[in-house]
Amino acid sequence: MRTHYCGDLNSSHIDQTVTLCGWVNTNRDHGGVIFIDLRDKTGIAQVVADPDEKQAFTVADAARNEYVLKVTGRIRQRPEGTINTELPSGHVELYATEIEVLNSSEPIPFQFDEDDVGEAVRLKYRYLDLRSEKMQRNIRLRHQIIQLIREYLNVNGFVDIETPILTRSTPEGARDYLVPSRTHPGQFFALPQSPQLFKQLLMVSGFERYYQIARCFRDEDLRADRQPEFTQLDIEMSFIEEQHIMTLVEELFAKLFQDLLGVNIELPLQQMTYAEAMRRFGSDRPDLRIPLELVDVDDLLKDVEFKVFSGPANQSGGRVAALRLPQGGKTLTRQQIDQYTEYVKQFGAKGLAYIKVNQLENGTEGLQSPILKFLPDDVIQEIMRRTNAENGDLVFFGADSATIVNDALGHLRVKLGQDLSLVNGDWQALWVIDFPLVEYDPIAKRWIALHHPFTSPKTEHLDQLEADPGKVLSRAYDLVLNGTEIGGGSIRIHDQAVQRKVFDMLDINEAEAEEKFGFLLSALKYGAPPHGGIAWGLDRLAAMMSGSDSIRDVIAFPKTQKASCLMTESPNQVSDTQLKELNIRLRKQS
Ligand code: AMO
Ligand code: AMP
Repeated sequence: MRTHYCGDLNSSHIDQTVTLCGWVNTNRDHGGVIFIDLRDKTGIAQVVADPDEKQAFTVADAARNEYVLKVTGRIRQRPEGTINTELPSGHVELYATEIEVLNSSEPIPFQFDEDDVGEAVRLKYRYLDLRSEKMQRNIRLRHQIIQLIREYLNVNGFVDIETPILTRSTPEGARDYLVPSRTHPGQFFALPQSPQLFKQLLMVSGFERYYQIARCFRDEDLRADRQPEFTQLDIEMSFIEEQHIMTLVEELFAKLFQDLLGVNIELPLQQMTYAEAMRRFGSDRPDLRIPLELVDVDDLLKDVEFKVFSGPANQSGGRVAALRLPQGGKTLTRQQIDQYTEYVKQFGAKGLAYIKVNQLENGTEGLQSPILKFLPDDVIQEIMRRTNAENGDLVFFGADSATIVNDALGHLRVKLGQDLSLVNGDWQALWVIDFPLVEYDPIAKRWIALHHPFTSPKTEHLDQLEADPGKVLSRAYDLVLNGTEIGGGSIRIHDQAVQRKVFDMLDINEAEAEEKFGFLLSALKYGAPPHGGIAWGLDRLAAMMSGSDSIRDVIAFPKTQKASCLMTESPNQVSDTQLKELNIRLRKQS
């Protein structure tokens, strides 16, 4: 229907007759001449309808926003003063001789460039929201990311293989989405939380290098960076060790940033052990752009009379840590400190002690804090030295179980960094390695896998599996970008005996293991090669690369925080006939 795209027009087209198709972005009447900004997938072109061209003028006059038009006319130079240097097509305009309305449009329920449109309206009319420049840009960037990923992996000998969506439960730690089977009354499929088991089986099958842009389903509490269905770049390789896959993956990562954003990511990426990340940043996904660090002070506080500190300092599994905020004594008001104290309570902290550093040279006299009276001078001075405190600083303290202190001060660190604009630079990526294999769940009173139960323990730790599970490190690695976990993976267990041992430790008995993953255990008996892999959260990566706060902004048709789709109004009720076919009778809602 068209000869050109709106956004492609430029001075080289002057005097040519062209036909454009697109939507009316705006329609303005300038003293008898009508100016229409016509929009298509490439951008915007200015159409001029002059009363001298009667047909074109009459149609233009009646056209409203979002009408679909086909416009034919001559390209001409824009008059001096009306040139728009911000648009590629801003030097020219289309002098219309014929306009056809291909379709009309009702007034749209919101304007694309309005800031305060509620997300509910946008999601209900998602097909309109997707017309906005921002959403077009985001979805196209996502496409480019996937395109580059495919190119890179294809060149490197990977095979794209689809794995089932109707399957059995895969243990990634979330609740499953279930699908009832009609042909097997009373039985259910689970949607995959990831293709984990299948990709391992493909290694047993001898493909050696697999990838998939894979949809995953997890029924978990949603946040800005979590959706019930999301997309992974899923990779698995045989005959490799950690460093091999990390190098391959970080080169892909750097290539995406270079080619799509023109950003240079320095390789190799920094690698940090889990232990170091927790000690210095209270998090296994530290945002290294924020120049604040936790400092251990337990050893100084074992004998002080202040029980809030000496308790955790003496307790195994306890931690007392300090977090120095440079010039915080000057920038934070009392009220703000109280607000941060409230903030850390959501992570289980019972309080947030602090010392304000006024005049270090005056010793303890030069400090200000409700807790000074409980602490000996030499201890206070050593804390000041250890945290490198300077006049004007504020030093916060967390004392509790290590888990609570890390969570509270780790989050406080990030919040302070954001609130006080301490975030340095745009991009900081790293690998976090040497994760513990398991963690103890005090409620369930058992060990649970930190990643998933197919993650290989470090070979040198194998003999501690039974004696001291908490000390065993795994061959897992996470890719972290600006405080967000972009991807995670590991070298897997390929030895059936080791897999059984790990199941034992996780309290998964033989019958249960057989019932849940019998097919994997069986496959491990038939020449399973050493293998490992990784999965990236593609939505998270695309969100960050596009500068979006939420992964909803890079998913064409996302779900709400309550895991529903406002546009299709799903989930929804189904007919009695359907339920009967599925052998399902609904319970009364409690
Ligand atoms: P994991 O569970 O760490 O590993 O998932 C990999 C990555 O997927 C992203 N992600 C999510 N993104 C959006 N919404 C969600 N609900 C969501 N959950 C996870 C994260 C995460 O890093 N099978 C293993 C991978 C492997 O071992 O190879 C797995 O699924 O960015
Ligand atoms: P309290 O003795 O409870 O009045 O607390 C004295 C100071 O210590 C207050 O500033 C509290 O916020 C802080 N505080 C209390 N419990 C903790 C804790 N577990 N970790 C860090 N600071 C705490």
